[in-house]
Amino acid sequence: MIRHPWWTWMWRVYDRLVLAVYTFFVTLAVTGQSFFGQQRMSHENGIALSGRLKVVDNPTFPAHNFFRPGLEFSCRMRHGSASFKDDAKLVVRSASLKFQDDHFDSPFDLMMNSGDMPLFWNARTFVEFMWVTLRGRGKQFVSYLKKYPVAQVGGGSAVRRNPDSFGDMVYQTKTALGFVGMDGVFRYVRYKIEPLGFEQPEGGLPDDFDRNHPWLQNPYRNEKRNRNYLKEQLRQRLNLDQEPLHYMLMMQLREKPVEALEPQWLSCAVPWDATETPWHSVAEIQMVRALNYERSMLTWFDMGNHPDSLPVPKAVSIDDPHSLNHLRLASVWARHARLFSYRIWGIPAAFGDSRKDADWLGVPPLKDPPGDSL
Ligand code: HEM
Repeated sequence: MIRHPWWTWMWRVYDRLVLAVYTFFVTLAVTGQSFFGQQRMSHENGIALSGRLKVVDNPTFPAHNFFRPGLEFSCRMRHGSASFKDDAKLVVRSASLKFQDDHFDSPFDLMMNSGDMPLFWNARTFVEFMWVTLRGRGKQFVSYLKKYPVAQVGGGSAVRRNPDSFGDMVYQTKTALGFVGMDGVFRYVRYKIEPLGFEQPEGGLPDDFDRNHPWLQNPYRNEKRNRNYLKEQLRQRLNLDQEPLHYMLMMQLREKPVEALEPQWLSCAVPWDATETPWHSVAEIQMVRALNYERSMLTWFDMGNHPDSLPVPKAVSIDDPHSLNHLRLASVWARHARLFSYRIWGIPAAFGDSRKDADWLGVPPLKDPPGDSL
């Protein structure tokens, strides 16, 4: 057995202590914001859908006791737009999936965003990102993006402007999770959801200007799409035209390296090459009904909803790529706080269609609704 010098152990204890301190303060901040603000810390603007999913009949991934061939689940999905109550802003879009059609109970939840790289990749960068967000977003982001060119690429790749439908975009987990097959081997896994039979280009892709300026998130001048146009499109399509949305859930797998050090590719700032690490189809998803506002608000997702065979890897420091999921697990308190606030004060009213309403927020340096925008 290799004996580590005592200072190595001291550093390990120190790293874990710092992670615990970060986790405490981040959880406190997001829980307070969710309770007093009565809203999701992120992706408040969204709509829940219900439907079914079926694991593919002939999986190409290693046999797994949760993803058994042909197994069917009822499911719930929530599509959202991060951070602003306006579907026509330049923002990250999301698809969160529960393997049960329920507000909360589910054997497995996945939360996915557009793009293949995020704006932060560990607890340290998340806290810096949170800080510039709290200072007002927009131009406040610039110093952060200059400090971390990778975040600039991540932001530019993740934002989407004016897609025709949530059903036209691709959503990825980005962080690496665990997958223990029936062979008992631990592998790292990333998931994505894409429209069934997907062909590029994806809806809402940013043009060069937006890609290079992801912090200029306001709608176009004279934007005629209203603030709720994407959610309305889904209500129309699913509930009135009775045209379901079809998606494929897919996964990439990588074996744990033999050496003790964690590889660089575990960072969610490093997308996995699809040739070396092919995508495997996991389950076909059919979403058939858009739920009303109240049920959408009551729907919530939790990283803690997973079977033992799909674990969330443990983090050891604020620079560990798994520290993001560590914070997300702890943020279950923010979810409880949001729902508890509804019990006390009721569910906040849905926001209206107009950018002239008092609750419409501009992004600095452009504070007012642009031009003759609706
Ligand atoms: C790559 C990293 C991340 C991804 C892909 C991600 C994705 C998402 C998505 C898709 C949602 C919307 C869920 C819904 O529709 O209800 C969400 C909400 C949320 N996320 Fe994250 N997130 C990430 C990192 C984090 C981190 C580091 C935290 C740490 C505090 C966090 C805390 C939250 C909270 C509190 C909510 C609101 C939950 C609610 O009130 O129901 N997320 N996230």
